[in-house]
Parts: sequence; structure tokens; C-alpha cells
Amino acid sequence: MTALPLPTGTAPAAAPRRRVVDAPTRVFHALFALSFLGAYLTAESERWRALHVTLGYTMAGLLAFRLLYGLFGPRHARLGALLRKLAGAPAWLRSTWQAVQAGQWQALTARPGQNLLMSAAVATLLMLVLPLTLSGYATYNDWGDVFEEVHEFFGNALLAAVLVHVGLVLGLSLLRRQNLAAPMLSGAVAGPGPDLVKKPHRGLALLLMLAVLAFGAWRWQLAPQGLVPGWGAAGPAFAQPGGDEDDD
Ligand code: HEM
Repeated sequence: MTALPLPTGTAPAAAPRRRVVDAPTRVFHALFALSFLGAYLTAESERWRALHVTLGYTMAGLLAFRLLYGLFGPRHARLGALLRKLAGAPAWLRSTWQAVQAGQWQALTARPGQNLLMSAAVATLLMLVLPLTLSGYATYNDWGDVFEEVHEFFGNALLAAVLVHVGLVLGLSLLRRQNLAAPMLSGAVAGPGPDLVKKPHRGLALLLMLAVLAFGAWRWQLAPQGLVPGWGAAGPAFAQPGGDEDDD
């Protein structure tokens, strides 16, 4: 069958899409995930310590932003929704237990359980950042060896939570035959219906990005060797050569 030509001046109708994640949440997510990745990769090396510490502070700052946005931001970004989902855990456990006793094992993997698991992973990610950065601060300021152990414990706990989180996103995407990661990048899902997010709040997202960049620039000029070894204040051409002093 041949497609009929559109009348001149008529654009083809775009496939319907619904806005479900706003720009500040997406920028927060990207910066939070990248800061974690960078901090984890630089954790063992003395040479990269300034960058590691800066990324740790960045995560703490991003957490503060997310908590404030979750308290005072628009309804769709409220952290109260996350807490309400988690508060439903006892009721879910009770009903699932009854279903399992009646031989309905599929209740274990049904959608309410999947959503609960995802919310629990997200809450764990957010909650681990405070003890992680506080113990990191204590370690950096030599408050005692015990803080180093505590910091390492929380670093590994956060890595485990990230692996569970990413595993859930991948696993549930396969199960539901739907790319669940895409809305965290594009902000939208395909399909008709009302937008969950009325305004994208791009200005606030830009402000958050600029604040993180400004903090990074400030930390860079504070650090005697800069944040990236070989790229100190004098630039790469003047950087002092030196071996990696990994402390492991
Ligand atoms: C490939 C990597 C990742 C993908 C595809 C991904 C994807 C997602 C998705 C789809 C959500 C929404 C979950 C929901 O429906 O409730 C989400 C939320 C979240 N993710 Fe990730 N994520 C990734 C890595 C990370 C990392 C490394 C971290 C932290 C270190 C992280 C922290 C979070 C947090 C805190 C939220 C809640 C966001 C909010 O509501 O403000 N993610 N992620």
C-alpha cells in the first residue's frame, strides 16, 4: 500500500508522549550517579584523593538538593510519595504471605512487589550517602582508624545498593518489555494521556548543573595539584611527573 502524500504545510503528527520526570530530577540523577562512579573509581588512590573528596562532597550537596526539592518542590517530585510506598511494605508482606500460603507464588513477583523493591533500593541509595560522606570527612581529617573502616563499609554498601538498583531497572525492563531507564534520560514515556509533570523546570536544572560546576572549579583552584593529576594549576605542560602512590 502506498502512503498518501500529506497536504502542503502539514507536519506528520508526532507520536504521543507523556512527561513523567522533570529536568531537575534528571540532572540530579545523572550528577549523583556520575559522582558515585568517579568517587568509587578514585577511592584507593592517594594521587586522586582531591577529586575523590570533591565528588563525595558533591554527592552530599546533591542529596541536600534532592531532600529540599522533595520537601518543597512540585508534587510529582515529593519524597513523601516514596515514603508512602515504603509504608505499604507491611501490608504487602501480609497479603503476599497469605497468597504464598494459598499456593499463589506469583504474588511474590507481582507488580506491587516490584515497585516496592525499586522504592526500597532508591531509599537505600539516598540514605547511605550521609553516613558515607560523614565517615569520609572523619577519615580525611584523621579522626581515627575506625572511621576508615566505617567509610569503606558504607562505600561497599552503596556499591551493592547501586548494583541492586541497576539490576532492578534492567530486570524489570526485560520483564515488562519496556525500557524503564529511558524516562530518566528523556523525561518522557511513549503513549497517550496527561503529563505527570506539568512544568519541566529547566531553569532549576541548569542552576543545579552550574552550582556543581562552580563547586568543582572552586575545589580545583583550592587543591595545590588541581583535581586531576597532571592537570594542576600550571596546566599539563608544567605538571610535575610522579608515580601513582596507591595506598593499597
Ligand atoms: C546505568 C545506570 C542507572 C540507570 C539506568 C538508572 C535508572 C534509574 C531509574 C529508571 C530510576 C527511577 C526509578 C523509579 O521508577 O522509581 C532511578 C532513580 C534513582 N536512581 Fe538510578 N540509575 C542508574 C544509576 C544510578 C546510580 C549509580 C545511582 C547512585 C549512586 C542512582 C541513584 C538513583 C536515585 C537516588 C534515584 C531516585 C531519583 C529521584 O527520584 O530523585 N542511579 N534510576
